Amino acid sequence: MANILVTGGAGYVGSACCSELLAAHSVTVVDNLSTGFRRNVSSGAKFVQADIGDRTAMESLLRSHQFDVVFHFAAKALVAESAANPGMYFQENVASGIVLLEALRGANIKRFIFSSSAAVYGTPTRVPILEDDPKKPVNPYGETKLIFENILQWYAQCYGWSVVAFRYFNAAGATPDLGEQHDPETHLIPLVLQAVAGEREFVSIYGTDYETPDGTCIRDYVHVLDIARAHISALSKLGPPGMRSYNIGTGTAYSVRQVCDSVEKVVGRPVPVRLASRRPGDPGILHADPRRIKEELGWVPLDSSLQGIISSAWQWRQRHPSRPATVST
Ligand code: UFG
Repeated sequence: MANILVTGGAGYVGSACCSELLAAHSVTVVDNLSTGFRRNVSSGAKFVQADIGDRTAMESLLRSHQFDVVFHFAAKALVAESAANPGMYFQENVASGIVLLEALRGANIKRFIFSSSAAVYGTPTRVPILEDDPKKPVNPYGETKLIFENILQWYAQCYGWSVVAFRYFNAAGATPDLGEQHDPETHLIPLVLQAVAGEREFVSIYGTDYETPDGTCIRDYVHVLDIARAHISALSKLGPPGMRSYNIGTGTAYSVRQVCDSVEKVVGRPVPVRLASRRPGDPGILHADPRRIKEELGWVPLDSSLQGIISSAWQWRQRHPSRPATVST
């Protein structure tokens, strides 16, 4: 059993990961609740409300616990918001992150798992994408994730840390208790479900002139539980100094129209759509080659069929109809 510190454990992916970890480990969540929700933290976890950029709070937390490993989910994670306010993204995702790293260094904690993003690749030069392919972010969010990966590389090299960075493709789906909703909502699947539920008039399809079979963007959707399982499988690999990055994607990708079609099948109602122009910063295709994570971590996606993702998200909505927004990562 490991004693694990989870930053951002009140958010969408972080909270799903905590509930899986709790089966075998002791978990402490630190979250400033700026976007996450206290109710997302499982009762079996300890909760500390604090900001990772608060050095005094981090040092005090690290003095009172002996953590073996840190899972770092806390971050701002909306692409459009990052383009509107890059300073906030560099402050929160990079500057505050360094405060956390330095507090960990002071406490001699050297095992670290980082939530990175497919956004580090920008517009890929080829698909499916392998981890060593070029990284040229096309939005400030992706840039902050790439900068932080590079910082961690140096911590691994110079301070002997053992680091795993996971580059999420499109996190989606829900567990019975934890689902995806943002404020404002920008992600495709929650928006399509809102439209089919009659909570919004329509969902926009951003771009029908991409070089894809039906002209709409293609993405690799991966269930949040499969993302959580990847993190757990990484635990056994941490130890020797160094850093390793892994794509978390299924290797199968779907267009926006295919997502709408699948929602219609799952829910049994038509999805009202409106065709719109491209959304700035959207690559036409983001599609993972997951061979490294499969070979090295033995990870296999178990819940990431498109239909399974959509069914789980729809069921979660049915169970939690009046929930105010909760946020991802
Ligand atoms: N889309 C629509 N209509 C909408 C919302 C989205 O057509 O109303 C399309 C987008 O253009 C995109 C696809 O649906 O092609 C998926 O969009 P999401 O907003 O759900 O997700 P993104 O692919 O933009 O975002 C994901 C991650 C980010 C990451 C980004 C990298 O959530 O963290 O990939 O580009 F940065």
